[in-house]
Amino acid sequence: MATQKKATLTLDGKTVDFPVESGSIGPDVVDIRSLYGKTGAFTFDPGFLSTGSCKSAITYIDGDKGELLYRGYPIEQLAEHCDFLEVCQLLLTGELPNEEERKQFAGIIQNHTMVHEQLIRFYSGFRRDAHPMAVMVGVVGALSAFYHDAMDISDQQHRDISAYRLIAKMPTIVAMAYKYGIGQPFMYPRNDLDYTSNFMHMMFATPCETYKPNPVLTRALDRILILHADHEQNASTSTVRLAGSSGANPFACISAGIACLWGPAHGGANEACLKMLQEIGDVSRVGEYIKRAKDKNDTFKLMGFGHRVYKNFDPRAKLMRETCRDVLNELGLNDDPLFKLALALEKIALEDDYFIEKKLYPNVDFYSGIVQHALGIPTQLFTGIFALARTVGWIAQWNEMISDPEQKIGRPRQLYVGAPRRDVAPKGKA
Ligand code: CMC
Repeated sequence: MATQKKATLTLDGKTVDFPVESGSIGPDVVDIRSLYGKTGAFTFDPGFLSTGSCKSAITYIDGDKGELLYRGYPIEQLAEHCDFLEVCQLLLTGELPNEEERKQFAGIIQNHTMVHEQLIRFYSGFRRDAHPMAVMVGVVGALSAFYHDAMDISDQQHRDISAYRLIAKMPTIVAMAYKYGIGQPFMYPRNDLDYTSNFMHMMFATPCETYKPNPVLTRALDRILILHADHEQNASTSTVRLAGSSGANPFACISAGIACLWGPAHGGANEACLKMLQEIGDVSRVGEYIKRAKDKNDTFKLMGFGHRVYKNFDPRAKLMRETCRDVLNELGLNDDPLFKLALALEKIALEDDYFIEKKLYPNVDFYSGIVQHALGIPTQLFTGIFALARTVGWIAQWNEMISDPEQKIGRPRQLYVGAPRRDVAPKGKA
């Protein structure tokens, strides 16, 4: 029988052992849950560089190899053989659906695409120039006020209904945020269309003109959704889990995830990356921007480069670059200056010592902005599309957490560096 691995820590002359656990793949973890009880000390790991926060069976990343698996399946195979709704089923249930299950799930999602008529009024409370992510944080959180019928988070059926509602309504909510911003009437969903074509219809049709989905472009958007569907314990997913650990309802938790995703170091990077490419403007200026990215005294970073986990090519970036070529080809934009600029920037950065030494490679956001731009999606909406796609990952992770018998409210500790105890001087006696 294999002996249990252990890690030994010596602190103030006292030696204590901690069990080491192995996952199905990936690095071992030292289980330090008993550390405080045994030693009176906490660990200190701001940014969670070496901390696993949960057990999960959903997504696996090998950052050194540049590998991403959803429920064990490589992202490349899923992007080639599956559509987004099949990937949603995989993430939610652990298995790819058979034909009957696929149709059944698509039918359920189609039946939940409309939002409550009263929710539509929320939009008019926002300024027309509001960022779509600001609108989404508010509107998705507001869903909590509409579904009292399924708010018991200890009931698996209630959790399932919330998952279906969120996955089905998110495209409607994102498209409405877009339509509101440009002053066009909202388009109701069309349940005769598949998930991604329906989203494009709600985005690009008007009451005066139907939108004819182009299969190459629809497939490209569907692929964007697949590539962004889940990514292990990233900042927004950890936010959803932490919010959910208190027992908060799923709509409130997903709204918290959207707020976190908005930041430029996370989901906001696709928007920031496209803006950066537009600002660079020409291949002749690439050197100047690479220099700035390397300058310690300059806050500028090469957007779409670098990743906390990938120290090799982000596999999603490779797929996104292919999709980018397909879309530009289909639209007759082979000479697209932004794409050419992105290729040149990527090449120069990958040959530069600074980027090689720090293992900074293009991430998914480097090319997704160009694809979305070519699809006619406005820059401000890029992160909204990311949120649409990531909703299934957030809800799968939230569900996994709630079903975990070991689940506890998330409550990190701290290294206090403020004033030690002191007394308030009584007034008039100072
Ligand atoms: N350009 C220039 N230098 C960089 C970059 C970059 N894009 N990314 C990291 N570095 C440097 C950084 O300054 C640091 O240098 P030093 O060791 O001298 O202090 C070193 O590389 C390590 O970086 P870090 O910031 O400590 O790494 P991190 O794991 O904390 O941050 C990151 C990862 C993604 C936030 C960061 O690489 C970044 O800000 N990239 C640009 C934004 C971006 O593209 N974000 C999208 C991430 S992928 C989509 C998603 O999951 O949301």
